[in-house]
Amino acid sequence: MASLKSKKLKSIPAEITVPGDKSISHRSAMFAGLAKGTTIIDGFLPSEDCLCTVHAMEALGATVERLEEVEGIGLVKLAITGNGLKLKAPDKPVDCGNSGTTMRLLSGILAGQDFKTELFGDASLSKRPMKRVADPLGQMGAMISGQGEKICAPLTIRGAPLKSIYYKLPVASAQVKSAILLAGLFASGKTTVVEPVATRNHTERLFTHFGIKWLREDDCVSVYGGQEPRATDIVVPGDISSAAFWMVAAAATPGAQITLNNVGLNPTRTGVINVLLRMGALFTNSETHAEGEPRGNITIRGGDLNATVIGGSEIPNVIDELPILAVAGALARGKTLIRDASELRVKETDRIAAVAQNLRAMGVTVTEHPDGMEIEGGAKLQGATLPCWGDHRIAMAFLIAGLFAEGTTTIEGSECISTSYPGFEQHLDLFLLGDTGARPIPVMSTVPQPLVDKMNRAKS
Ligand code: S3P
Repeated sequence: MASLKSKKLKSIPAEITVPGDKSISHRSAMFAGLAKGTTIIDGFLPSEDCLCTVHAMEALGATVERLEEVEGIGLVKLAITGNGLKLKAPDKPVDCGNSGTTMRLLSGILAGQDFKTELFGDASLSKRPMKRVADPLGQMGAMISGQGEKICAPLTIRGAPLKSIYYKLPVASAQVKSAILLAGLFASGKTTVVEPVATRNHTERLFTHFGIKWLREDDCVSVYGGQEPRATDIVVPGDISSAAFWMVAAAATPGAQITLNNVGLNPTRTGVINVLLRMGALFTNSETHAEGEPRGNITIRGGDLNATVIGGSEIPNVIDELPILAVAGALARGKTLIRDASELRVKETDRIAAVAQNLRAMGVTVTEHPDGMEIEGGAKLQGATLPCWGDHRIAMAFLIAGLFAEGTTTIEGSECISTSYPGFEQHLDLFLLGDTGARPIPVMSTVPQPLVDKMNRAKS
């Protein structure tokens, strides 16, 4: 088992470029594999999760050409050639590793095939509920069986000719929405998903990018069956969920400033910026441009953070950032409240229990609730040896907490970080070792744009 250590930060690097967005990388590989012709994906995230999706699409008949590797990160550019919506039966069960996105979205695609597939995953993925996709895909005509009441992996998916459905999501989940919309491509007629709260819309944006017509009316997203994705090259922006770790490190350091280059700024993902603005950090963004997905460089300036409340319709927008925002809460003045986030209990681990246990081990007072927690900010953090339950975001969040703690913080089982962030350790070293590129703090002058408008609103 690997371990990683952090201790009081020595400096804040001037800039960091985080690897590609995980959600978009998964979907790009799937769409490319469903399109006739070749799609070049640049900026791909070669994390273990996304590589599972690539291997799965290969096993299902797509051809993958590795075009460019970056040292310490891995495969960042690849060409995927698909044969259209009709895939080939795989020779053996498909390994989804630790990846809920792979398993759930693939279930939607496999539901429309004329063969049977088995999907399996690691111990963590095998505990996660797949009933949420098995139910609607079953209503569309596929047969999905799994283990126990929650229909956990290993799953057997028997594809069938599908019929379209109108489905109200019982939980706000982009994975479930996407599984149904992907299955909708194989169904006759219009498939509609009703979202209780808006979730990330990368699948819909990729529909547009790959030439598939879909529509959004209020809280309904619909797609018509029988449309085949058209192979189209794609450049994946950096992952804002990975950038969030450095945002918090800078935001909690008065006077610090960091620029995160080429980060995805899809409004369904930028909630972390809004939360940190409320807490007192300052942001500017520049060079924002859209290529299917908005992206840009963002600069964060640190300050004395204040507590905030995170809940309601904001939750899906920050769902993956809540562990690191809980750490921000511990570093802020006052009591931070996270609520309406019971989905955290069914992530790679129970993230409410995990965050509460590790914050307490570092000396923070935390009250756990079924759907969130209350964090008393402002205590002096103590370094500790901490578990991460095989959960990449818990591991990274507490290595960042270690940057603000007395002594050493050790995360045991840190190899799971490769699930989403190859190169994390090298970036962490920039904070630990002192970075020669650190700049004096310039006056924030640039490009107000929507984020700065929000900042001003938050300050007034
Ligand atoms: C994801 C959706 C979210 C998120 C996950 C990635 C996606 O999961 O937590 O890391 O790519 O669609 P849920 O849809 O289960 O909330």
